[in-house]
Amino acid sequence: MQLYFIKEDQYKAKVELSLEFYTAESLEDAQQKELLERAGFKGEQDSLCILHEKGLIACGVEALESSCVRSAVASAMRALSSAQYKVLHIALPSCELLAAIVEGSVLGNYQFTTYKSKPKTNALENITITSTSADITQEQELFDTALTIAQATCFTRDIVNTAPQEMYPETLAQLAKDLSQENKLECTILDGDGLKEEQMGAMLAVGRASVHQSQLIHLAYKPKNPKKVISLVGKGLTYDSGGLSLKPATSMVTMKMDKAGACAVLGIIKAVSELDLDIEVHAFIGAVENMIGGNAYKPDDILISRSKTTIEVRNTDAEGRLVLADVLDYAQEKVQADYIFDFATLTGACMIALGQYTTGIMGHSNKLKHHLFDASNSSGELVGSLPFNRHLKKLLKSDIADISNTSSKPFGGAITAGLFLDTFIKEENKDKWLHFDIAGSAYTDAPWDCNNFGGTGAGVRLMTQFLRSL
Ligand code: BES
Ligand code: ZN
Ligand code: ZN
Repeated sequence: MQLYFIKEDQYKAKVELSLEFYTAESLEDAQQKELLERAGFKGEQDSLCILHEKGLIACGVEALESSCVRSAVASAMRALSSAQYKVLHIALPSCELLAAIVEGSVLGNYQFTTYKSKPKTNALENITITSTSADITQEQELFDTALTIAQATCFTRDIVNTAPQEMYPETLAQLAKDLSQENKLECTILDGDGLKEEQMGAMLAVGRASVHQSQLIHLAYKPKNPKKVISLVGKGLTYDSGGLSLKPATSMVTMKMDKAGACAVLGIIKAVSELDLDIEVHAFIGAVENMIGGNAYKPDDILISRSKTTIEVRNTDAEGRLVLADVLDYAQEKVQADYIFDFATLTGACMIALGQYTTGIMGHSNKLKHHLFDASNSSGELVGSLPFNRHLKKLLKSDIADISNTSSKPFGGAITAGLFLDTFIKEENKDKWLHFDIAGSAYTDAPWDCNNFGGTGAGVRLMTQFLRSL
């Protein structure tokens, strides 16, 4: 599907189908009010009505604002994926809605068909958005930016959706290398020996039983005069079986998505470099497979992390925090960043706390969190703050090592995981760091908003929006 943006008076194609937005209120003045109402259309959010003979697809929106429009356009894309229309026209209602329409179109159209021997073909070939503005230079720029971000989100989705027998630490590292070449990024990769030299005892333990070698990937985008320097850290568990604390069979299914933090970080650096933002961005990824075997790390093992903090392993399924402990330590030593953000499908508890649609944000700086709430509002990605407190931190005490990798109580699991990571954040970086738990938001088994089945690309729109606002 190709997406175009032009001035209305230049639109020459025969309009096969036009998409229009209606609220319950604006439906009253619709030209096709009678037909739409006869078909039962009330203008409810995400409801659709196609009047084939009139060449109209009516999309219900609660209000004519970005989050409603993005979701409505995506619903329309899903409905049209099984129709026979080749060409769709959308008249831009206002400049503020342009990004939402682009995102709804691209993300709602997304399908991962790599493994289908007979993928269903989508007839829709061409969507043209038209503007009535006299000068569309500025709108054209907004269009290009939104398209780049939406495509980076699909790039992230593709990697998340790739099967674990194909996407494992070495192939993820190769993919990062390819991206670095295409987008002129610096690229450093450490594998087994490099990780040993760096004494990354926690990360190495997690990957020990895998036939694949763990990889530490560092990509850097360095524009000439950067306004800020940002470090992004991603959890890249290409598979999380739980290790010896094996996951139940039903919880293990979908654990190829445990690399979604790494995939998000790759999507973000791709978007930032293609948008030529004057922000220096470093992406650090711990790519590891958590498996079982005779040499697997065990509950009761004591790990010596890169920072020399000793960790008592009480559950090998709490592996993401072990990998991140070492990668965060490495990232802080290599780059003096203004902000450090980590993205991780870290805890099932985060989904219990916030629901499956919302990313959990944790950290010490309320100011920085508020800055991200703004980015959430303008990007349409949902976030919720989970508060740290010293009582929960005490639950990570170990009788035998410096810290335990699990909490001694079954409550507040997303926060105790965040507090575990906090142990590895240097004092001078406390207010520069935020942790994003994307366990719920990174993957979906049913469509919602502009997401279809599978990886959602959570983090890409949010963080790119934040970086653009700096
Ligand atoms: N990768 C999982 C978290 C997860 C669960 C992500 C469901 C997405 C969907 C993580 O490594 C994990 O297993 N966490 C444990 C921690 C527990 C053992 C302290 C969890 O959430 O149960
Ligand atoms: Zn796990
Ligand atoms: Zn995991």
